[in-house]
Order: sequence, then structure tokens, then C-alpha cells
Amino acid sequence: MTKSDYNKYFVNTFSRSGSPIVKGKGMYLIDASGKKFLDFGAGIAVSALGHADSLIVKELKKQGSNLLHISNLYITPSQIELARLLIKHSFGDKVFFCNSGTEANEGAIKFARKWARQYSDKKYHILSFSDCFHGRTYGALSATSQEHYHHGFEPMVPGFHYAPWNNLKATRTILDQHEFAAIILEPLQAEGGVNVVDGEFLRSLRDYAREHHICLIFDEVQCGMGRTGKLWCYEHFGIAPDMMTLAKPLGGGIPLGAIVCRDAVVEGVMPGDHGTTFGGNPLACALGCVVLGQITGKGFLKNVRDTGKYLFQELTALKKKFPVIEEIRGLGLLLGVRVSGDAAGIVAKCKESGLLLIKAEHNTIRFLPPLIVTRKDIDRAVKIFEKALSQ
Ligand SMILES: Cc1ncc(COP(=O)(O)O)c(C=O)c1O
Repeated sequence: MTKSDYNKYFVNTFSRSGSPIVKGKGMYLIDASGKKFLDFGAGIAVSALGHADSLIVKELKKQGSNLLHISNLYITPSQIELARLLIKHSFGDKVFFCNSGTEANEGAIKFARKWARQYSDKKYHILSFSDCFHGRTYGALSATSQEHYHHGFEPMVPGFHYAPWNNLKATRTILDQHEFAAIILEPLQAEGGVNVVDGEFLRSLRDYAREHHICLIFDEVQCGMGRTGKLWCYEHFGIAPDMMTLAKPLGGGIPLGAIVCRDAVVEGVMPGDHGTTFGGNPLACALGCVVLGQITGKGFLKNVRDTGKYLFQELTALKKKFPVIEEIRGLGLLLGVRVSGDAAGIVAKCKESGLLLIKAEHNTIRFLPPLIVTRKDIDRAVKIFEKALSQ
């Protein structure tokens, strides 16, 4: 696709170029010119089982030839099964399905506000943190603190406030100023530069939220579903939320989001309060059962931890050689390399050499391969990355 094709057909929201991608298998993508790419972006943390996974393809054919869509006026077996699995493997009691991470956060904010109203009409404020990312529609965008996402789209929804990440004193000051319905955070901020939450900070937020009837929401859209080496990122800290939002890998490549909640925070939600035409679609849920079944299967998460550790170690070895690398952060297979130089340039160089990486804020380059990545794949990726750094 040339730049002029792009300008001709698309709203100018993505800066992309190059030949269209036509095929994927395992860790690799192939473009229309036949060029092969080692995929260390996984469609922005979506393709957890790699491309064209045989179990996904089998289920896609089976469910696709059986039932594709019925709306939420009726229920389907795959929807029930996926909800059952999510509840079985998490803190939650109830699930709401939608189509994306943004939608999951919108719904969670609505549910939290409805729940908090029982305490006071003014208890509608929402707190989020510096460098967070929660999505692009108005509620989720208002929760996203980074101003450049707001620019040109103001005014944001009233009642949203931002506190400095991992700074308890400043956070408490803001929390004490308004009646909050919810605190929303990513236990591992991904888009914002791969920033892991501090365990003590998280514990204090948990305690404060419980004491003040505030719904604690963890956005695990990018860091959940095994990405960090545990099924849910919150498990690293031994602290569970009242609601958790999911999407990305959940539908095995088909749009699917979910809000997993404790009973208490959604008791007041009634038919008609919230809804979706496509959310929890039978195909997406059938694939979700395959993805969750694989990730919770024997040895899968241990492998994510092992390969994540190996990748961290290999990147750390590069840090010793290249002063341009300032820091390596993250958990499991969500790692960020912060560079002092031109991160976008390094990502572009890697793409030229057949490696796909993704840039995050603060000059950080994200490594988030499919969770099936092997040490051999990592060796290949690190070699290409090293070459790009030396250039
Ligand atoms: C943590 C987090 N929340 C929400 C979203 C928005 O998800 P979606 O693009 O599926 O709407 C993203 C997307 O990158 C994300 O990383």
C-alpha cells in the first residue's frame, strides 16, 4: 500500500505504510510481496496463541458453520461456558461481554457510578493515573489521563481526575477532595511506557477503596490473560479488584471484551441499564473458551514466565553493550526497552529487517510476542534488534 492509496481510502487515524499483510502462521506474518516478519507485537497483545493456531482454526470452522450471531436477546452455550471459565479462574462472580477494551471500560465506569449512587448523588467521581490508557470513547477517553489523546476532542466527561502514578501521598490528597465512585488502573501500564504498579501503592488503594465504598477497577485489557506470566496481572501483587476489564487476546482474534465483577458492585444493574448487539457473540465466545483453555492448561503460564525471563535477560545483556538503552521494564512477555534515542526509528529499522515491535510512550519499545514464543524466536528477535541498535 503506498501513501497515496492510504490517503485515498482511509481516515488519517493510523500512520502505516508498506505492503498489506496477507497471511500469518505461528510467530510469523507474511506480506503481499512475500516478505516474512517475526511478530513481537502480536497485533498489540491480541494473538496470544500465535497466528492461525490449529485449535482456533478448528473451532472457528465448527462454530462458524453452526451459529454466528443471535444478539443478546438470547443466550448461547459458548457464552455461558466462557463466563463460567472466567468466573472459575478469577475473583469475579458475574460477567458482562462487549466487543473491545474501550467498551469494557465504558461499561465498568457506568456500573461503578450506578453502584456508588446508593451512597450519595455526588459520588460519581472517577480517579485514574498519569500515563494510563483506557480507550478512545468519551468515558474511557476521559479516564485516559494523557492530554494528547484529548486534544481537539474536549470537553471531556465531567468527574474524571488524575493522580500521579505510584504516588500515594498525592493520590490520597485528590481522593479526599471528592466523592469517588471508582479508581481505575492498569496494574502494568502498557501504552503509557510499560510501568509496573508498586505493590504497596496498590495495597493502599485497595484498603482506601474498601473503607470509602469506592469500586476498584483493574484494566487488564493488555496485561491480563497470561501476558505477564500469571493468568491475571493482579496475582503478582496478591490484590484483587472489584471489577476487571478484559479484551485483546480474549476472543482469539475476533473482537471480544468483558467486565468481570463482584456481585456486590453490580447488584443494582437492571435490564436496559446497559447493552450491546454484538458483545458476547457466539463465535467470539467459542474462541475465547479455546484461548482461556490453552492459557490455563498445564505448563502454559510457566512457559510464559520462562521465556519472559529469558527475553529480559537477553535484553539486559544488550543494555550493557548499547548505552542508548536506559532501562528494561515489565513482567512476563510484556517488556519495554526505554531508549534515549529515536524509538520510532529503531522500530522502523527492525521492521525493515523482518521484526515487528511496537512503540509506547516515553521512548519505550514494547516486546509483546505471542505467548507461544520460544527461546529460538527470542534469539532471532534479539539479533535483529541488536543490528538495528548498532545502526
Ligand atoms: C490497557 C488498555 N485499556 C484499554 C484499551 C482499549 O482497548 P481497545 O483498543 O480494544 O478498545 C487498550 C488498548 O490498547 C489498553 O491497552
